[in-house]
Amino acid sequence: MTLPNTNPTATAVWEKLNQHYQNIKNVSMQEMFRNDTSRAEKFHIQWNDFLIDYSKNRISSETMELLQQLAKEVNLRQAISSYFEGDAINQTENRAVLHTALRSPETATVLVDGKNVIPDVFEVKNNIKKFTEEIISGTRKGFTGKTFTDVVNIGIGGSDLGPAMVVEALQFYKNHLTVHFVSNVDGDHVNEIIKKLNPETTLFVVASKTFTTQETLSNAETIRAWFLQSASQDDVAKHFVAVSTNIQKVTEFGINPANVFPMWDWVGGRFSLWSAVGLSIALAVGFDNFDELLKGANEMDNHFKTAEFEENIPVVLALLSIWYNNFFGAESEALIPYTQYLQKLAPYLQQGIMESNGKSIGRDGKPVNYQTGTIIWGEPGTNSQHAFFQLIHQGTKLIPTDFIGFVKPLYGNKDHHDKLMSNFFAQTEALLNGKTEAQVKAEFEKQKVTGEKAAFLLPFKVFSGNKPTNTFLIDKLTPKSLGSLVALYEHKIFVQGVIWNIFSYDQWGVELGKQLANSILDEINSKSVNQHDSSTEFLLKHFLKNS
Ligand code: F6P
Repeated sequence: MTLPNTNPTATAVWEKLNQHYQNIKNVSMQEMFRNDTSRAEKFHIQWNDFLIDYSKNRISSETMELLQQLAKEVNLRQAISSYFEGDAINQTENRAVLHTALRSPETATVLVDGKNVIPDVFEVKNNIKKFTEEIISGTRKGFTGKTFTDVVNIGIGGSDLGPAMVVEALQFYKNHLTVHFVSNVDGDHVNEIIKKLNPETTLFVVASKTFTTQETLSNAETIRAWFLQSASQDDVAKHFVAVSTNIQKVTEFGINPANVFPMWDWVGGRFSLWSAVGLSIALAVGFDNFDELLKGANEMDNHFKTAEFEENIPVVLALLSIWYNNFFGAESEALIPYTQYLQKLAPYLQQGIMESNGKSIGRDGKPVNYQTGTIIWGEPGTNSQHAFFQLIHQGTKLIPTDFIGFVKPLYGNKDHHDKLMSNFFAQTEALLNGKTEAQVKAEFEKQKVTGEKAAFLLPFKVFSGNKPTNTFLIDKLTPKSLGSLVALYEHKIFVQGVIWNIFSYDQWGVELGKQLANSILDEINSKSVNQHDSSTEFLLKHFLKNS
């Protein structure tokens, strides 16, 4: 079955949401909290070791009922079944979207074109387990008989961001292997990494779903040439492995087919960290931790599949995001993890969210007449507080923000953790309440600021507050909780794509730039500039003259 095809603005509830927005847009959250002391009780979801408090949003019970009605009218339940059952919901590429199958238990049955894919998934997982255990334990050695000390993941986009984010996030659980990531076609990037490596003790993982990506192939070629300065062609087999769907291209590149960890076209690049693309994760933290990550994601999958919409974390968060995006006109969302370990979560989710939902053609093939695709950005707290929080507090834009914090620190440093978390709680409280004129005046009195100076300063020191936030309070950052957190956002993306009536799993927009870059490269190589717009032509000529 394909996804339902409903323009959300044509649903009966859309107009009701519009009217409701008119009624609520000038009501402050401060007032809502004053009038109802049970808001947190009402608007929170407790699931496993996750507590999600969404009470600090510009919503009432009626808002949530209407938004859930919207989910029902666009047939979200049917869409969720199609997603998990392997229907070809990526219609423009005629593919299923089944990263969820990668974290299903061995007993599950997931059919793609009538074939259960779970046995294949587990065959690859078992190979990952065996291979990573051999590398970590040192039984598999490099070409001079030394054990491996370093791993380099060569990939870009989904073949880089997911593993890089998770390896960073789980460094507390890491073993002795140092894992590096090379992604950019910028030669300075690969050279900076090469500088740190010893060819005798480094394993290279070339990760590319298509094995046609310019950046990855260029970096892999440069690294192989560097490797061959110290080793022979036969040694390549001991040091280079690949993750890909394209075995033919991998073989053409010179990697032994025995060293290929396959993936499948029903795994989207930006959702592929659960596949063999996660090989560098399993190398960094060991297979058991990698498996825990998958288990955490699978638990979130089950929650998403079965929980009623009111209790369903991805559904509730997606609906809130739609509320701000489509009714309040918010253009971006911030994501602030209060742990340095999650510093790569926002860049990772930028691909997931913006490559998926950055679309303007509806599933009916017509341009949409409403906003889609939120812009996502963020940095860990407390660093971000000292960087861009001013704009969230007192700027002119409405920026709904997710705060992600953990009850327990990993090293048990209570003093630091209490300071960190007091900032976490303080920020959402400040964003909610702001600071009233009366409060500022009382402060002035204490500080003995009076007269003209006080009158001048007053408006600058008042904060309106009323800025929406979601608070995620998770017990501890573990492979499992990280798996659940990432899967949560994956499903939020799905729900939003369904409601916006767009295809979330293709990325045609990225292709045009790739094609043009190839033809411009030919011009640069032949030093002859073809006809372009006058700006591009002017710039190219300057580049050729001076390079
Ligand atoms: O740039 C778009 C994209 O196709 C992403 O979707 C993908 O994650 C990335 O390129 C890398 O692709 P591949 O894994 O095939 O090298």
